[in-house]
Amino acid sequence: MSATRHAIEVRNLAKGYKGVPVLHDVSFTVGRGTVFALLGANGSGKTTTISILTTLIKADAGTARVAGFDVAKQPTKVREQISLTGQSAAVDHLLSARENLALMGELRHLADPRQTAADLLDTFDLNEAADRRLLTFSGGMRRRLDIAMSLVGDAPVIFFDEPTTGLDPKGRTRMWLTIRQLVENGRTVFLTTQYLEEADRLADQIAILHAGRIVASGTPDELKAMVPAGIVELDFGEEEQLSAAQRALGEHYEASRVDLKLVVATTGSVAEMADLFIRLKDRGIEPVGFSRQLPTLDDVFFKILDEEREDCRASAQ
Ligand SMILES: Nc1ncnc2c1ncn2[C@@H]1O[C@H](COP(=O)(O)OP(=O)(O)OP(=O)(O)O)[C@@H](O)[C@H]1O
Ligand SMILES: [Mg+2]
Repeated sequence: MSATRHAIEVRNLAKGYKGVPVLHDVSFTVGRGTVFALLGANGSGKTTTISILTTLIKADAGTARVAGFDVAKQPTKVREQISLTGQSAAVDHLLSARENLALMGELRHLADPRQTAADLLDTFDLNEAADRRLLTFSGGMRRRLDIAMSLVGDAPVIFFDEPTTGLDPKGRTRMWLTIRQLVENGRTVFLTTQYLEEADRLADQIAILHAGRIVASGTPDELKAMVPAGIVELDFGEEEQLSAAQRALGEHYEASRVDLKLVVATTGSVAEMADLFIRLKDRGIEPVGFSRQLPTLDDVFFKILDEEREDCRASAQ
């Protein structure tokens, strides 16, 4: 890999199919040894982006470099540096899982393809079915094999197109673990997902793709900071305490009542939480319970979509 800090650099990428634009001016960078999640709904352009970066299709405009090589000008070099688990399988259904893995190991000139196959079968919990033809595999088993296939060899940049779609919770957790291990070993992971939770847990950087445009990007925390208000729910056993609390906090916080609870908007910071409880204590008010809810990526996602809709409405007028 060249000396660049970035494993992936994308500048002003555009792509359309038969004159219908699908990607508009997409730019982002992915640091080496990090996880990058491209988050978007169905049809937002995730697979199109991955296909351009893995040299399967060509962009109409813009540039992309992967592992220091230009995807349009040096596609063979790029292919030597990457592995891809696509949304649909690239395996031979008449062979067994073990044979598929070993075959891939041979294609990649590994020293001991059978051992690599055995190790991956183990990692992906496929030992029992290892010698059955894939025709008999369930969807989740096939998906696990797809992922194992892409881990044969030691490509420094790994692309996963929706790696956990179709996996059960156990398979999903295992996949998350695998991705962490890959990054600990210095590899770079680019993944697409429709799951905010997944992006939140795994990614160092997230870009949200909406109708072919990057509408927001940053670390999970940066994105969450776009919706400042978390809430604290304070529980009071009785009306009198509740009213007193509302008076005490109302001057400083946005506080509204729901039943015998007071819902207070806050950033959720420790300092603000302390301030809140001190104000209550100073007036001799003690809640019987409380819960804190911080903003989630869902909140960010819906906020951005709302803003997009507002913008569309404004420009239509
Ligand atoms: N070969 C093609 N010919 C014409 N249109 C295409 C082609 N491939 C993709 N598209 C269109 O481009 C848009 C983006 O598709 P893409 O597959 O990149 O979305 P995606 O984000 O991966 O969606 P999903 O979550 O469903 O996988 C969609 O509107 C799709 O219909
Ligand atoms: Mg897709």
